[in-house]
Amino acid sequence: MENKAILKEIHSEHIPIEKRQEIFTTAIINFTERLFSENEPIGFGNFASVYEDPENNICYKSVTRNKDHLFNNVEDEVDFLETLHEIDNTVKVPIPLFTIMKGGKQLLAMEKINGPTLGEILRDKKELPETYNSEFFWKNLKKFVEKMHNEYRIYHRDLREDNIMIEAETGKPVVIDFGAAVKLILTDENPYAREPGMEKIAPFFDDEAQIASLEREMQYHLTKDK
Ligand SMILES: Nc1ncnc2c1ncn2[C@@H]1O[C@H](COP(=O)(O)OP(=O)(O)O)[C@@H](O)[C@H]1O
Ligand SMILES: [Mg+2]
Repeated sequence: MENKAILKEIHSEHIPIEKRQEIFTTAIINFTERLFSENEPIGFGNFASVYEDPENNICYKSVTRNKDHLFNNVEDEVDFLETLHEIDNTVKVPIPLFTIMKGGKQLLAMEKINGPTLGEILRDKKELPETYNSEFFWKNLKKFVEKMHNEYRIYHRDLREDNIMIEAETGKPVVIDFGAAVKLILTDENPYAREPGMEKIAPFFDDEAQIASLEREMQYHLTKDK
């Protein structure tokens, strides 16, 4: 159904709000399904494919594997994006737009970042943006992680090469994928503890240790052929 027809349908004052919400949700699901079938994803993870909507400069993370009990759902994820996207102006977190959870389907719409992940650089899949400045990048990323831990009590727990991007226009680090993140409630909680038996299947990664090892890997990668 085209946008005009949808608007016309929900304009009828006899339709209750729940029904209108449902019409919108279905329209968006239909729109994204068409988008996903006609385009290649711009990124893959273990659980999701991400597609861009080039006309609107946004992207959709579509969760493809059921991870209910292992990791956050898209509604939890969007809360982290909402809390963190404005805390620092030297490190970006994508601006969240909305989520849809319906019949096992999970969609997260957010700002599309233009630039490579560190993984794409390390695997020589994409070019390093000219704006990348290693000192600026790592200093600010470390400060961001410290602030996220100490002021917001949020731990990302999956800061691997595919979950950190370099914004091409600005060279800023971008932290994505809060699918494994947690906000601590108790002060003495260990953020990285997994229930017994789960450590091997779905381990958590120490944020500071990850940043330190990625910084070393990037330095090595960018100097080795010079
Ligand atoms: N906001 C975004 N803008 C551009 N690319 C993105 C964005 N979010 C994710 N991606 C791309 O999609 C990939 C998978 O997304 P991610 O959220 O990490 O999913 P998963 O939870 O499955 O690991 C990322 O590694 C990245 O390449
Ligand atoms: Mg990921």
